Amino acid sequence: MKSIKKKFIALTATLAAAALVATAAPLLASQSASTYKVIAWNDLGMHCACPTFGGFLLLPPFNTVKAQVFKYGTNDPVLITSANAAGMTVTYSMVENTDAILQADPYFSQWISYSPKLFPGFAPVVGGKVMGLAGNGIAGTMTYDSTLLDWTAVGIPAYPVTTGDPTKDIMIDPLGGPNRDPFLTTNVYVKDSTGKIVAQTSTVTPVAFGGCCSCHLKLAAANGYPSTPAGSFAYLGKMHGQNSSKIDISMIDPDGDGVGGPIRCSWCHWDPAMGENAAPGLAAVWPNYTILPGATFTKADVKVSQYSFSDVLHRFHTQDPLVLSTYDPNIANNCYDCHPGNNVNCYRGSHKVKTAIWCVDCHGNLNQRVAAGQLTQPWKTSTLPSCTSPALGIKSAFACHATSVVGGTTYPATPTLFGKFINSRGHKGSPKCQTCHGEAHAEAPSSMTLDNVQLSTQQGTVAGATYPTGKNSTYALGVCKFCHPNKTSTWGVPPHM
Ligand code: HEC
Ligand code: HEC
Ligand code: HEC
Ligand code: HEC
Ligand code: HEC
Ligand code: HEC
Repeated sequence: MKSIKKKFIALTATLAAAALVATAAPLLASQSASTYKVIAWNDLGMHCACPTFGGFLLLPPFNTVKAQVFKYGTNDPVLITSANAAGMTVTYSMVENTDAILQADPYFSQWISYSPKLFPGFAPVVGGKVMGLAGNGIAGTMTYDSTLLDWTAVGIPAYPVTTGDPTKDIMIDPLGGPNRDPFLTTNVYVKDSTGKIVAQTSTVTPVAFGGCCSCHLKLAAANGYPSTPAGSFAYLGKMHGQNSSKIDISMIDPDGDGVGGPIRCSWCHWDPAMGENAAPGLAAVWPNYTILPGATFTKADVKVSQYSFSDVLHRFHTQDPLVLSTYDPNIANNCYDCHPGNNVNCYRGSHKVKTAIWCVDCHGNLNQRVAAGQLTQPWKTSTLPSCTSPALGIKSAFACHATSVVGGTTYPATPTLFGKFINSRGHKGSPKCQTCHGEAHAEAPSSMTLDNVQLSTQQGTVAGATYPTGKNSTYALGVCKFCHPNKTSTWGVPPHM
């Protein structure tokens, strides 16, 4: 712990110096004068990554940034695709994360050490550059997705870092290091065939530590193990060995170095977030793995689970007597016990601001999620908040969005529209919900100022834009003239069909 803290102090100094140069690129002086418009967002609006990687891995550094580009001519805007891009490229670049900062970070450097064992064949640093699992680094070129109609950079290895700016470093480190910035910035540029920037924007890229450590360090100490990541992993393994699997995961040595771990839970617990359709099983990844001396199980016990990863984690904790009696009797409603959390408040959008809706109003609480069978099909649209046919205990969004009244005008409900916010499009064909509304869980206007910068900068630069009472440029993109040169500069609700 001490040496980690020392490293952190050195790191903080480096980062504070780096912060002076690494600032968000200023937007073009006048976006409205540009022939192109670009809006970017993070796919989920929230993301977890682990602070340590030597024991086990839940989720890797893996953020996906998307963007839509429109050509602004004299008539209706035209979506820029790979087919009509005429040599243009869309590139991205993270601001607070640099190759040097990440490689010097004591936590991220653990990812660099252990990820080749967690994902054999993966090279986390190539030619001095940090790489994500899908082959994208912290800066690069976005590719066009002709199904989803957006430019995408999948799996950017974004990681919370200490910037030295106390207004940004809000995330408490459960392991006692300095606070970190969980709401990073990614700049997105549209360049013409000569490399000249013709449009640009910035979006929030959220990544934070989950809350496992806050209970598990205490739990380890309460059972005579050191209150450290290693102690917690040892006790976690012991508990796992006492469940029906008999497998003490801390006694598995995948690579034969004589030390337990690192273990990826999704080797045995199916997790679509890892891009896998089924759990591969330990032997498929590490055919020559060994079990450390003193273990109470054998290779014959080592098998994949019948349960998804989402299932074991959510169901176990919400039904476990010790969790409920001693750690959090209300864990079924307290999603921030695990989802960030840690002073991060990753759920921050207009639903929170306007109506005090909480996660469970859309997703169901953990008991409802279990009862509705959501955990058998995790990460699937079919089990996510749906507005047309809500799952058990989940409110139909039509209760909220039957009609909307803006500036005295009542807009009708559009019954087939909702339920697929993240990948849907909602305006005459190509514009995506997130292009106009901002990222999921941070819908405009967000309670966090940083989320609102993109829209207020973009929409706010339209000459002569006017807003009805109660609305302003931080609200969803409704100034028609931002995209349509031939339409009004008065903010309104665009047709959603
Ligand atoms: C609110 C406190 C709390 C949080 C947050 C929490 N846990 Fe736990 N967890 C516990 C307790 C308490 C136990 C021990 C239960 C017992 O002994 O009956 C436990 C047990 C476990 C077990 C052992 C299950 C088995 O096989 O018997 C695993 C694995 C686990 N937790 C993983 C996690 C992970 C991963 C996270 C973060 C995503 C997490 N926990 C977050 C309190 C918590
Ligand atoms: C080598 C395979 C393997 C690995 C790796 C593994 N598990 Fe398991 N796990 C199992 C099996 C098998 C079961 C028994 C339940 C079953 O048959 O599905 C189980 C059961 C559990 C349970 C209890 C579920 C219940 O219904 O009682 C929890 C919680 C759990 N695992 C969490 C984790 C976590 C968290 C990790 C990573 C830190 C992990 N497991 C890694 C194979 C594995
Ligand atoms: C004990 C820790 C824990 C608690 C408490 C918890 N989560 Fe999770 N949740 C996780 C982890 C870890 C993942 C990532 C699992 C994966 O990689 O598939 C996750 C993933 C999810 C997912 C995506 C996967 C899926 O099942 O579709 C949803 C949705 C979700 N959680 C909702 C919630 C909601 C809503 C709450 C509160 C009512 C909640 N979670 C509370 C640990 C927790
Ligand atoms: C206003 C409703 C709403 C609230 C409140 C809400 N979510 Fe969501 N959440 C959604 C929608 C809608 C999706 C994405 C569905 C889609 O379009 O695919 C989603 C997706 C997710 C996902 C990704 C799952 C996947 O399969 O892609 C996770 C994880 C998640 N939410 C967790 C949470 C947590 C944790 C909270 C509270 C801290 C929360 N959500 C609050 C509506 C909500
Ligand atoms: C071209 C931009 C644009 C697109 C694309 C778009 N919206 Fe909207 N939407 C708006 C604006 C502007 C408003 C008014 C927002 C307000 O009142 O704050 C609005 C209003 C709404 C409302 C009503 C809010 C309320 O206060 O009742 C909902 C719900 C909604 N949109 C959902 C969606 C969904 C889901 C999609 C994708 C399937 C989508 N929108 C696509 C611009 C858009
Ligand atoms: C984010 C950019 C964007 C904004 C903001 C926007 N639109 Fe559009 N709109 C488009 C695009 C792009 C098309 C062409 C459809 C396509 O490419 O799929 C379009 C098409 C249309 C069409 C159908 C074609 C036509 O001109 O008859 C109408 C009507 C329309 N928009 C009205 C509006 C109104 C009214 C507003 C403001 C309240 C608005 N739009 C705001 C991007 C936008």
